[in-house]
Amino acid sequence: MQRVCVIGLGPIGNRHAKLYHENPLAELVGVCDINKERADAAAARFNVPAFYDVETMLRALAPDICSVATGGYEYGSDHYLPTMQSLSAGCHVLCEKPISNTISEAEEMVALAREKNLCFGIDLNHRFTPAAEAAKRWLDDGRLGHLLFVNMSMWIKNPTESSPWFQIKALHPHTVDVMRHFCGDVAAVHCFVSKGPGRTIWTNAQFNLKFKNGVVGSLTGSYDIERGHPMERCEVAGNKGRFVIEDMWREATLYPAGDLEKRVFTNPVFGGMRDFEDTFRNRINKFVTEVDAGITPDKIDGSGADGLAAQKVLQAAIDSVQNDTVIYLD
Ligand SMILES: NC(=O)c1ccc[n+]([C@@H]2O[C@H](COP(=O)([O-])OP(=O)(O)OC[C@H]3O[C@@H](n4cnc5c(N)ncnc54)[C@H](O)[C@@H]3O)[C@@H](O)[C@H]2O)c1
Repeated sequence: MQRVCVIGLGPIGNRHAKLYHENPLAELVGVCDINKERADAAAARFNVPAFYDVETMLRALAPDICSVATGGYEYGSDHYLPTMQSLSAGCHVLCEKPISNTISEAEEMVALAREKNLCFGIDLNHRFTPAAEAAKRWLDDGRLGHLLFVNMSMWIKNPTESSPWFQIKALHPHTVDVMRHFCGDVAAVHCFVSKGPGRTIWTNAQFNLKFKNGVVGSLTGSYDIERGHPMERCEVAGNKGRFVIEDMWREATLYPAGDLEKRVFTNPVFGGMRDFEDTFRNRINKFVTEVDAGITPDKIDGSGADGLAAQKVLQAAIDSVQNDTVIYLD
């Protein structure tokens, strides 16, 4: 049984708290927000003590796991401090995406977790679906053959006008993570951006990617399209087959090369995923299960290192826009 605290009680932290509360391997023991009203409201909702300062909570409760669901500038500037505090106190940490809005802080977070031999996961929830698992099995079983290309896209309405790079840094940790999950590390990035009607920030982006294993790929994203219809698509192709995942969990289809019969995973009506919240449920439950089983930290699915790698790709995309050139990663 893992004793868990949640830090940052906005909509997302409340969702984390609810899902730990429902997890039989976890006991939610405390919540913390520097905003007293938010901390008190969550404490009342889950019948746990409220704290307004992370260090005080860590000293009082000594949890096994902390979820960091703070946000901040570019949805990531407030993740660093509570993550470092929680790791320093010996807690395993599941942090929201983006791992941080700055690469140097993200590197420190990953380094401290490694130094302390603690599990550090990022909420890269889009890869935690049965459809994505089916697709990964097809890939690992060699049903795609030699990997050739990947096409990924994601679009959603987000009216926030903040940093010019908000869309790239806050939306694309998910898409880049899914692409890396299937195709490995990225070697080079080129990116174009555009602004939707009435927007002041770069709300659309088109990435051209080359992976270290030679795979080539494209990624399209937007913060300008209303919800209510499919919002994510991932296609990965090799010389023996190709799969397409529609909308994270709805459907995954394998098209074997030279075969007119395709194989389809469809989200079942009974026992299937119900809505977007279930991507959080699957991700959080996986982290709790891994920690509870005593997994070695470098085996964490959707790790801090994965979150950092995705953010480096996104920073390279920003550098590409600013310098109008291809950026090569280490
Ligand atoms: N994984 C996903 O699919 C997904 C979806 C949406 C948002 N998110 C992420 O979730 C995070 C939170 O989103 P939100 O909309 O709930 O944000 P929010 O700004 O509404 O809430 C964040 C809370 O953290 C608190 N906070 C900040 N620093 C703190 C500190 N040091 N100690 C304690 N509390 C602190 C703030 O007071 C605030 O109440 C963001 O990073 C966002 O990128 C993830």
